[in-house]
Amino acid sequence: MTQPSTYHCKECGYATARWMGFCPQCRAQSSMVEGLRRVASAAPVSIADLGEPGRPARAPSGMAEVDRVLGGGLVAGSIVLVGGEPGVGKSTLLLQMAAAMSSTGRVLYVTGEESAAQIGDRAERLGITGGGLEILAETEVVPVERCVEMGGYRMVVVDSMQTMRVDDTAGTPGGVTQVREVGARLTALARRAGIPVVLVGHVTKDGSLAGPKVVEHLVDAVLYLVGDPDRGVRYLRGLKNRYGSVAQVGVFEMTGDGLVEVSDPSGLFVGDATGLVPGTVVFPALCGRCTLLVEVQALVAPTGSPQPRRSVTGVPARRVHQLLAVLHRHASLDCRSCDVFVSVVGGLVVDEPAADLAVALAIASSRLEKPLGPVGAMGEVGLAGEVRAVGGAADRRAELARFGFERVISGGGRRLVAEALLEAGLRPDRPRRLHSAGG
Ligand code: TYD
Ligand code: MG
Repeated sequence: MTQPSTYHCKECGYATARWMGFCPQCRAQSSMVEGLRRVASAAPVSIADLGEPGRPARAPSGMAEVDRVLGGGLVAGSIVLVGGEPGVGKSTLLLQMAAAMSSTGRVLYVTGEESAAQIGDRAERLGITGGGLEILAETEVVPVERCVEMGGYRMVVVDSMQTMRVDDTAGTPGGVTQVREVGARLTALARRAGIPVVLVGHVTKDGSLAGPKVVEHLVDAVLYLVGDPDRGVRYLRGLKNRYGSVAQVGVFEMTGDGLVEVSDPSGLFVGDATGLVPGTVVFPALCGRCTLLVEVQALVAPTGSPQPRRSVTGVPARRVHQLLAVLHRHASLDCRSCDVFVSVVGGLVVDEPAADLAVALAIASSRLEKPLGPVGAMGEVGLAGEVRAVGGAADRRAELARFGFERVISGGGRRLVAEALLEAGLRPDRPRRLHSAGG
């Protein structure tokens, strides 16, 4: 039996039995040579000599909320992905972070999306003047690699991965092939240069674009910036963190002077009076695959109008219309002679059926003028009046518990909406009749 030839990469030492035109580990071109690799890293190292593996070197990002979400700062040689919908404020956040870090060293901000002049305008608006921040308008990965390899940077931002491309790879920028390649090359670059690289990725609501998901497995940490582009509040949540937990959330407010950190965020999730006044309840929402508590509010007010108003923000209006019909039919809760207002506090948009039960409870609580107390609610309400269990229930419960909501009203089994209302202390069988409506 003949021994298979062994090839290794002269750049990084990666070994393979098959020759390749480029190294799959460090992506160097034509670096594979025949023969056993003879690099020092091939020798096993005692774990005792590896230093403190649990405490990687971290550099503060210059923004306390970002550091908290990251678990103490940016890890040297790591790659962090910051995802979010277009317009949510990713570029603003990273420009502010880059500026803060540039006070103690050189920081490179690669922009493939906007021109250097546009970044300059934004920097001026944000009051950024530091000379340590360098802008590179570039959409090719290779020049970025060259620039970083010349050394001297303490952090690199690449905005965004959908606009970058690797020359010798097929596909259009933003497509799966290019995005994966860009992610792999920048990860290798972070490792080689030993500095943190922060990569921006756009996500759409339905996640249909090749986006952060393609490279999530590759990167060390995934953060999502979520919020309502029309309103002020932004949440930065960890989705994955190789060097820390993902339990933290950073809260910002988008102002005329950029993002301002909010150090006491719990008031933004839920109001002081949540559950204490009729028509309010807490729902643990999944935002960009993170759990976030939101307050659902309803106001059901009697009206003499033949066409009562239905005003809904933050949840889909058609779900509210459906819930009103289900409550009427299956829980004897009649809102036909009332105006109904439903909204989500804080400007978040909740577009998941799991919020049905919270909306239904808020409506019933307001209609019956009975507060629910400090409870969380989650469940999808079906047309037959059944309340179904929801995905991510354990995470949602944990998030509720973290904020002191131990009592949770939920669905599953053969749960009916009337039973859920009873459990919540609402007696829908005896609604206060405001008008002698028939039927
Ligand atoms: P941006 O960072 O460009 O979003 P992304 O990179 O995620 O696409 O931010 C876009 C929005 O933020 C834009 O609508 C303008 C607003 N904005 C402010 O309100 N204040 C500011 O100081 C800045 C720089 C932007
Ligand atoms: Mg941007």
